[in-house]
Amino acid sequence: MCGIVGYIGKRNAVKVLINGLQRLEYRGYDSAGLSIVENGELVTFKKKGKVAELVKLLEDRNFDSTVGIAHTRWATHGEPSDINAHPHTDNSGKISIVHNGIIENYHSLKQMLISKGYTFVSETDTEVLAVLIGYFYEKTKDLEEAVRTALSEVQGTFGIAVLSSYEPDKIIAARRGSPMIVGIGENEFIVASDAAAIIQYTRQVIYLSDNEMVTLNRESYNTKTIDNVVTNNIIHLVDFDLSKIEKGGFEHFMLKEIFEQPQTIRDSFRGRLLVEEGEARLGGLLPVLDKLREVDRIIITGCGTSWHAGLVGEYLIENLCGIPVEVEYASEFRYRNPIIRKNDIVIAISQSGETADTLAAVQEAKQKNATVLGIVNVVGSSIARETNAGVYIHAGPEIGVASTKAFTSQLVVLSLIALFLGRMRNLSKIEGIQIARAIKELPSQVEKILDKAEQIREIAREFSYSRNFLYLGRGYNFPVALEGALKLKEISYIHAEGYPSAEMKHGPIALIDENMPVVFIAPKDEIYDKVISNIEEVRSRKGRVIAVATENDERITKFAERVIYVPDTLPMLTPILTVIPLQLLAYYMAVELGCNVDQPRNLAKSVTVE
Ligand code: G6P
Repeated sequence: MCGIVGYIGKRNAVKVLINGLQRLEYRGYDSAGLSIVENGELVTFKKKGKVAELVKLLEDRNFDSTVGIAHTRWATHGEPSDINAHPHTDNSGKISIVHNGIIENYHSLKQMLISKGYTFVSETDTEVLAVLIGYFYEKTKDLEEAVRTALSEVQGTFGIAVLSSYEPDKIIAARRGSPMIVGIGENEFIVASDAAAIIQYTRQVIYLSDNEMVTLNRESYNTKTIDNVVTNNIIHLVDFDLSKIEKGGFEHFMLKEIFEQPQTIRDSFRGRLLVEEGEARLGGLLPVLDKLREVDRIIITGCGTSWHAGLVGEYLIENLCGIPVEVEYASEFRYRNPIIRKNDIVIAISQSGETADTLAAVQEAKQKNATVLGIVNVVGSSIARETNAGVYIHAGPEIGVASTKAFTSQLVVLSLIALFLGRMRNLSKIEGIQIARAIKELPSQVEKILDKAEQIREIAREFSYSRNFLYLGRGYNFPVALEGALKLKEISYIHAEGYPSAEMKHGPIALIDENMPVVFIAPKDEIYDKVISNIEEVRSRKGRVIAVATENDERITKFAERVIYVPDTLPMLTPILTVIPLQLLAYYMAVELGCNVDQPRNLAKSVTVE
């Protein structure tokens, strides 16, 4: 969602902060700002719009400061504006804070502060926290203590960084429900909500836990809980390199990430497939092996694209393992008082590992004594740490707001889990070997699909006139229809709906006329013939059919105006291939329409608020 970066050390703080903001901009981007202490004074610059606007504001000014905090925002309280942008200052103008998350009791805190004569200039909950810290500072004359006391009054979530000209050689940061990572350099520290802003300077990091705060001086740091108990943190090594968060010659991160998929898919199964035994080795599940043997039901939860991956997971696990599976939006699960029985296992899927609803669903499931597993991309993220066990997808940093490579890696990991659980139950060795072999083939098959990018670009050009799209698929490819439609909506703002193909006749068929493009996901599987009947239904109403089909399927050309072929694989693995043309189609449509692919309007990469 929003991005935070703070720096204290020997370098020019403004340069480090701007660089950090640019790396974090994918998380939220309606305004940006920074505070530094320059010649003993706290100075703040903030601007509505992208980081580039802030850069313009700072042009032609020179700063020497080596300490500062900065923020890129995705509005929750208060519309995007210069005033509502972070940082926010207290009434003395000497304490500045940046904040991710939501202060739920900001209204009552604000009333309390107003009654004591404090004033506010913005509509944000963050300013209330800044003023509250100022209020406690007047009493304690100790910044760390003021921050700690203020945070203990706060309900809600926060990742914050605080800077003050009262104590200029210090940054204080804290978290509850919103990530905060401290990069440890040589006589310098960089604190950020995302490792992407840190790794250029250091690989050594500590991850703050919920209700934990850190005080960074130039040479040292200390951590404690908001209840004032000293804590010890293990230093972790972040293992991705800078090239992974740069565009590497591609026009957009999204395109780069689509093209990375042969590699990211390989990374997801590397070291985990025992082809000759027809098994999967998943070390992350060993701590819960007994539970997995006894499991009676699996509940998969997640949001957005991760929820779509969960739907494919339902088909995979039910078909291969005979275990009943339910898939539920995390936002519903958390508030629905879900029934969790003794032998139920909950699997939370999240690229970022920070989505607020998914994290809350994990906590709800734990509260009800469920065993909770994570399928997560970001190592060390909140969901990874909250779950009892899990499997990292190893897709590397995903920067494009529309998720692509994380989805295919989630599907690979779900296939591995299904294989793993299946072999613990009734799945035969022969079937296991077939599946393992087919998984190994996926990277080269994805490469073949990527070779068709130009053809898909032409289709996008041809259909970019349309304001509506329908995506239809069945079985394993019904969730792919949903995902294809979501990609298109997210980045090109074209209205698109995904449906199970057969469900079309119960409503959406009314929309079909000669202007309506319908994308059919129709690989050669057990229900291929049924899908062909559905295509005929569309054709007879003059709908324009684009089909994603299996190589060498000549028959489909009779029914579809455009066909994009994908290589043949097992039906259970088809989503990993069929989704790729749909990612490219959405991408090229958005480019064709001049949309900002990597930073679509109103969206955020990681939604850390409800
Ligand atoms: C946001 C992103 C989506 C993503 C969803 C879940 O809405 O824009 O692309 O699928 O969050 O994110 P997660 O990190 O939990 O997978």
